[in-house]
Amino acid sequence: MLINTVLKNIVKNRTFAPMEVTTPTPMNTVSVDFDNLEFGKVFADTMVVADYDGEKWSEFEVKSLETMAMHPATSVFHYGQAIFEGLKAYKSDDGRINIFRLKDNIARLNKSAHRMMMPQLDADKVEEIIKDFVASNKAWIPAKHQGSLYIRPFMISTDPTLRAVSSKTFRFVIIACPVGFYYDKPLSVYLEKSYSRAGKGGIGYAKAAGNYAASFYPSSKAKNLGFDQVLWTNVSNNFSLEELGSANFFYVKNGAIRTPSVEDSILRGITRATVIQLARDTGMSVTEEVITAEEFHQDLAAGTVECMFATGTAAAITYINAITIDNETYTVESNAYALVLALKERLDAAKFLELGEHDEWNVVV
Ligand code: PLP
Ligand code: COI
Repeated sequence: MLINTVLKNIVKNRTFAPMEVTTPTPMNTVSVDFDNLEFGKVFADTMVVADYDGEKWSEFEVKSLETMAMHPATSVFHYGQAIFEGLKAYKSDDGRINIFRLKDNIARLNKSAHRMMMPQLDADKVEEIIKDFVASNKAWIPAKHQGSLYIRPFMISTDPTLRAVSSKTFRFVIIACPVGFYYDKPLSVYLEKSYSRAGKGGIGYAKAAGNYAASFYPSSKAKNLGFDQVLWTNVSNNFSLEELGSANFFYVKNGAIRTPSVEDSILRGITRATVIQLARDTGMSVTEEVITAEEFHQDLAAGTVECMFATGTAAAITYINAITIDNETYTVESNAYALVLALKERLDAAKFLELGEHDEWNVVV
């Protein structure tokens, strides 16, 4: 009792340096330079929040974008039980707004939640709230030539305890950013054989925060050597090709598109699935298979690689013009490859409601 009183007095009398809390700004669209949007820096001024109490989700609350105060022992800070999604809303020239492949992103969010021992969300309710959220944030959506609205739903564990067990309570949040184009030039890539992004039996197929944390050190090593990104491989299976940074990898050999088959260490990209479908629709051949680094290296050395690219919501279709494997660098003028340029146009047409096919991908608000 006495000790508690003493401690309380110490805490009361101690002066702490005030913690600097950065309010997410700007808070209005007028001050945003929509022609020069840096990815993930500007935020729409509202957010959606729901809490899981161990048994059920609360109603979704739409509120002004604000910081979230949490106990320092909150589970997510220590054990990283956190997942997210990334999807986009596009404004077509006639002013219609298309949330592209919304259902697929929600389904993947629930898949990630399952693997990370987090509660399922009601997919229909999440779909409705994202539609409402986008509709009420129309002013934040850039015009077609400027970019799109990147929507970031995420879930974190919120039990205030240091016990290393799954949290029982969780928070689900949706925020959004107007964004420009993630990569503005073809990439120079390093094929990584020492570090893995994810492993067999692990969480690579889930969009779990820890996968990204694990990637930062090797990525920054590659950046220091002058590369833009790493091409991950499976270091315990003949260095079979996996993903490119946080995007899926493709290359074209003798006119046919090849991409690594989705193993449990690879995120099943929604843009990947879209591009495969669009390519097959136009009669292009696409194979999904295990491709070892050695096989890929031989294709590069033989000059049979005509184009390399990566796909993702943020990355869209990004070309790779140079790749370094085992200290040998190969250049491929990927951005001059007409077949994939046409595919890129079809992907844009799909997002901006100009394709006239695959309406099942679109949610127009
Ligand atoms: N791989 C990783 C690790 C990613 O983070 C992403 C981005 O979401 C992708 C691939 C591409 O997936 P999607 O096309 O669904 O955005
Ligand atoms: C996305 O493309 O949505 C991603 O998740 C990439 C992101 C990590 C920047």
